[in-house]
Amino acid sequence: MSKMMGAYLPGNSTTELRELPVPEPGHGEVLLRMKACTICGSDIRCIYHEHLGKGPEGYQGVIAGHEPAGRIVKAGPGCRKFREGDRVIVYHISGCGVCNDCRRGYMISCTSETYRRAYGWQRDGGMADFLLAEEKDLIHLPDSLSFADGAQVACGFGTVYEGLQKIGISGDDAVLITGLGPVGLATGALCRAMGARRIIGIDVIPERCKLAADLKLCDTVLAAAPDNVTAIRDLTGGRGVERAVDCSANDSARATAIRATRKWGKIVFLGEGGRVEFNPSPDIIHDQKTIHGSWVTSTWLMEDLVERLVRWNLHPADLVTHRFGLDNAGGAYALMASGRCGKVAVCFDEELNLPAKPV
Ligand SMILES: NC(=O)c1ccc[n+]([C@@H]2O[C@H](COP(=O)([O-])OP(=O)(O)OC[C@H]3O[C@@H](n4cnc5c(N)ncnc54)[C@H](O)[C@@H]3O)[C@@H](O)[C@H]2O)c1
Ligand SMILES: [Zn+2]
Ligand SMILES: [Zn+2]
Repeated sequence: MSKMMGAYLPGNSTTELRELPVPEPGHGEVLLRMKACTICGSDIRCIYHEHLGKGPEGYQGVIAGHEPAGRIVKAGPGCRKFREGDRVIVYHISGCGVCNDCRRGYMISCTSETYRRAYGWQRDGGMADFLLAEEKDLIHLPDSLSFADGAQVACGFGTVYEGLQKIGISGDDAVLITGLGPVGLATGALCRAMGARRIIGIDVIPERCKLAADLKLCDTVLAAAPDNVTAIRDLTGGRGVERAVDCSANDSARATAIRATRKWGKIVFLGEGGRVEFNPSPDIIHDQKTIHGSWVTSTWLMEDLVERLVRWNLHPADLVTHRFGLDNAGGAYALMASGRCGKVAVCFDEELNLPAKPV
């Protein structure tokens, strides 16, 4: 096959399909037959409605999609580990490989202006029949995980696992999740697997609250309201939660995450953009609380996460409520933008016919 289709996001809440030549892998590169590419809240926030992102979030008119998983159909010369037939996840940022952040495995914060290029942002992403990827960006996908499981590791689940490692989660903890989009739902799933006993979630969209409860990712779900902090204290013996994860990027939800966390507790901010207002002395300093920021993850932690998903028999694809073919990528982005869904996936071949959970 010499031609393929790819989806672009012009920035006016539409999706454009274009025909392109199938790329040829060069040295250290592979060509993937795409199998699943999921949509992230960042695609909607920075690209879909308007090209608002700057720097690492700047969209440079490439094929969209930064959560790709597929099968290698051609390995270029010089590949050292991966070969034709391998099932892989693409860590979604290709870094220079030699700056300090890349050497730590955090290509997300690669400092090279020339070589740092994220798939679906500055280089062609996974919303196409085929994807050209660098071998160093690949994570092996075990047979017991589906491609839609893998696609979500590329950004969402990887990001959440990193954030949870920073604050530490165990059976000791009650956890608050503000924002129950795909990232918040992934937080519920991973906190559960890591042993958290009481998980409280908040969102403004009824479908998302229902999904979190139906999938048993939260023990209690609250509609966003000014009295959320009081309600959470009431649910936790008057003290608040040990851990809070903001997955909303909303100002007041972030303040709730801080204030509903108990003394000595830890908070991590994953939601991007926006602001937050809080009073340092009463809200964090005198209660000895810590707020972490966390940006995606490293390649090595992504490999560890994949290993844990197999051990826990945890399938990220359980969060996928809707699957679309590439020919209806426009429907997929529009649905994700509406928020009336769980995770939305564009799928190919055998992945397209797998059942999705209805909301
Ligand atoms: N830190 C990172 O590396 C990283 C990686 C991926 C995504 N993100 C960001 O994480 C966030 C979540 O991603 P997503 O894919 O789930 O996006 P999303 O936009 O689907 O989810 C955000 C959710 O927050 C909810 N929300 C809005 N206001 C709220 C409020 N006041 N209280 C409670 N909930 C509220 C929304 O209804 C929505 O369900 C986005 O900001 C995204 O850009 C960050
Ligand atoms: Zn993302
Ligand atoms: Zn680098």
